[in-house]
Amino acid sequence: MQISDQPGTAIGATVEDFDHTSASDADIAALKATVYTKKIAVLKNQDLSPQAFLDLGKRLGRPETYYEPMYHHPDIPEIFVSSNVPENGKQIGVPKTGKFWHADYQFMPDPFGITLIHPQVVPRKNRGTYFIDMGKAYEALPADLKRDIAGTRCRHSVRKYFKIRPHDVYRPVSEILDEIERKTPAVLQPTTFTHPMTGETVLYVSEGFTVGIEDRHGDPLDEELLKRLFEATGQLDETFGHDRIHLQGFERGDLLVWDNRSLIHRARHTTTPEPTVSYRVTVHDERRLHDGIGTADAIGTTGGIDATGGIDGTEAA
Ligand SMILES: [Fe+2]
Repeated sequence: MQISDQPGTAIGATVEDFDHTSASDADIAALKATVYTKKIAVLKNQDLSPQAFLDLGKRLGRPETYYEPMYHHPDIPEIFVSSNVPENGKQIGVPKTGKFWHADYQFMPDPFGITLIHPQVVPRKNRGTYFIDMGKAYEALPADLKRDIAGTRCRHSVRKYFKIRPHDVYRPVSEILDEIERKTPAVLQPTTFTHPMTGETVLYVSEGFTVGIEDRHGDPLDEELLKRLFEATGQLDETFGHDRIHLQGFERGDLLVWDNRSLIHRARHTTTPEPTVSYRVTVHDERRLHDGIGTADAIGTTGGIDATGGIDGTEAA
C-alpha cells in the first residue's frame, strides 16, 4: 500500500495497491489516520462487488444501515444506492441524492465517523463531489463570529430534504411531515466539537440539515447567526468558486473514504443530468462523533474536551 498526497490541494490523499482482503491491521490504522488528517483517501483500482465493498467497509468500522429502506441495495441493505439508471426497468436506490450541503446522518442522534463511496457509473462531464473542511473553516472564522457561537448548540433535521417515498403518493403532506418529526425528531449538537481523532475544533453546521441555533440556556437565537456561518464557510456560494470549497474528482475503480466528522459535502449540481450510479457504505469507528455526544455534558461544551485519543486506528474495528 502506498499513500501519497493529492497534488495541488490541502485535502486528500491517493492510496495505491490497497487490498482489504490482505491489508494488515497496521495498514488499516495507517489508512484511517490518513482519512482523519487528509480528510479524503482515494483508493485506486478497486472495482469491488457489492459484498466486497461492504467487507472493505467492515475493516474500517461497524456499518450503519440507512434508516429508509428505499435507498438499500437489493441484495446488500448496508449499501445505500444513489442512481438514476434503472435496472431492468426498475428503479434501484434513489436518484439525485445529496444535492445540498450536509454531513451524512447529521440529523440522527449518533452519526458515524466515516463515509465510503464507490462510484459505479461515472458521469463524463460533471464529475466529482464538493467538500468543505469545517475544521479549517472554523479556524478561519472572524473572531467576533467565533465569540458569538461559543457555548451555543444547533438543531439538525432531515425535514427540508426528506425524499417522498413511492408509498407517500396521495398522502397529505401534513401527515408526512408529522411522521418525519415523530421518527426523526430534530437533534441538538454543540455548534463546535473537538474531533476525537485529531483534536481539531470542528464547526458542525450545514445548510441542508441545520435548522436552528440556541444559546447555552436553550433559548433560540436569531437565524441570522446561522446565515453568517453558512456565508463565511462558503455554503451559500452557488458558483462553487469559494476558497473553502474543494471539488474532489474520481474515476471508475476509485473508492473514496472520507472523514464525516469534519467534512460537509454536496453532490455536484448539473442542469443536464447524466447517468450516475454510486454505492455508499458508512461506518462507525472506535469513537463516537465527539466525546460529549449523548451526555448532559454535550450542552455548551465546545472546545473543552481533551482529545486524548489522538490519531489512533489500531483497535480492531
Ligand atoms: Fe451525503
